[in-house]
Amino acid sequence: MDSFVYQYPVKQYFGKGCAEEAIKKELKTIGRNVLLAYGGGSLKRTGLYEKLRTWLEEAGKQVTDFGGIMPNPTYNKVQEGAALVRKHKIDFILAAGGGSVLDCCKIVSAQAKLEEDIWDMQYAKHLYAKEFVPMGAVVTASGTGAEQNNGAVITHEEKKLKQALFGAYYSFAVLDSDLTKTLPMKQVISGAFDTLSHCMETYMGRPQETNLSDEINEAIMRNVIKNLRSLIKNPDDDFARGELMWASAIAENGMLKLGKQTDFQCHMIEHAVGAYTDCNHGQGLAVIHPALYRHLLDSGKEKLARMAETVWRVKGTTPEETAMRGIETLEAFIREIGLPTHWSEMGSTDETVLRAAASTSIIMPGCCRQFSRDEIFEILKERV
Ligand code: NZQ
Ligand code: ZN
Repeated sequence: MDSFVYQYPVKQYFGKGCAEEAIKKELKTIGRNVLLAYGGGSLKRTGLYEKLRTWLEEAGKQVTDFGGIMPNPTYNKVQEGAALVRKHKIDFILAAGGGSVLDCCKIVSAQAKLEEDIWDMQYAKHLYAKEFVPMGAVVTASGTGAEQNNGAVITHEEKKLKQALFGAYYSFAVLDSDLTKTLPMKQVISGAFDTLSHCMETYMGRPQETNLSDEINEAIMRNVIKNLRSLIKNPDDDFARGELMWASAIAENGMLKLGKQTDFQCHMIEHAVGAYTDCNHGQGLAVIHPALYRHLLDSGKEKLARMAETVWRVKGTTPEETAMRGIETLEAFIREIGLPTHWSEMGSTDETVLRAAASTSIIMPGCCRQFSRDEIFEILKERV
């Protein structure tokens, strides 16, 4: 196992029905001016907005709304949030939503304290923000694990790039599975598949030898597959819903990444497609993963074979055949849970978009083979 330093700043409140007590407790410790951040409408429809506002006002807070954060949040939305933080002298950001709301706020929190443009600062000068407005996360859609890390995926519409920016960690995360009960099943599934993808992308990194993090990862992957099947069968299965929420958190809290370099090539390709199509993240990953892994049957064979045996419980007569059977089982699972396997199922088959995405995707050093841009285009085209 490679050497590492591990320090973790996010306090976790986990449990069905834990939100009210957790949030009221945390509100006692924060400043007066609070930015309440949320998405396009679900928070008001579910009644959680009213509750949060009441709890904030009862705690004596001056609340400023920052609503309308869209799925795949844009850089312009980040700037809007940062301007609100400055204007209203915000002391604390309370973000309630899925990965999009949580990501947007991480960068709002950094941009509000900066004179310069955070995108240019990171990508042109390779400098990272050091000061942040403190934040808390109330998770209403699990899967991305965005509440656990300081990376955010932001779409820069003018530049046609969907890429990572680094901001603040949340000081606390509320993981109350009851808050996800209003999430449409389609989104539950794409979120859980995102968790599975995070696990696979971590597992498939370098070196390929299996360390303790990978063995824990195998258990998480089996858990996600099992509990997603249970939840699809019975959306009232609170146990499965809670397990998926915690699996999502563990996949992104750094634990599985210890002692190795992660891969995340599939994510980088999906993000590049997303910059052009605004597609659903989990669905895009489902389309790309099996095709990508078929292209790794040479250099990633041993690890793919181990994943086939320990996670999917399938075996062939050679490592290559075992790896292949694992990929087939992954693809069958994607179909079973109703996710797409081709771009046409997502309404986008434009090859010029796929070529543009292949030309702008980040090439990951942690992937067991470095793809050329032509091969990334091949992978994307195979799934038209
Ligand atoms: O906008 P509203 O009206 O709130 O509706 C949202 C949105 O339409 C809805 N929703 C959320 N909670 C709900 C709910 N609807 C009913 N009841 C609830 N309780 O769900 C829709 C999708 O929300 P979104 O936040 O976009 O989904 P998700 O959590 O999948 O986040 C996707 C974003 O996270 C990024 C993705 O790239 C994408 O931009 N990711 C962030 C990561 C990170 N920071 O670590 C890692 C991931 O790999 C991922 O890239
Ligand atoms: Zn993801």
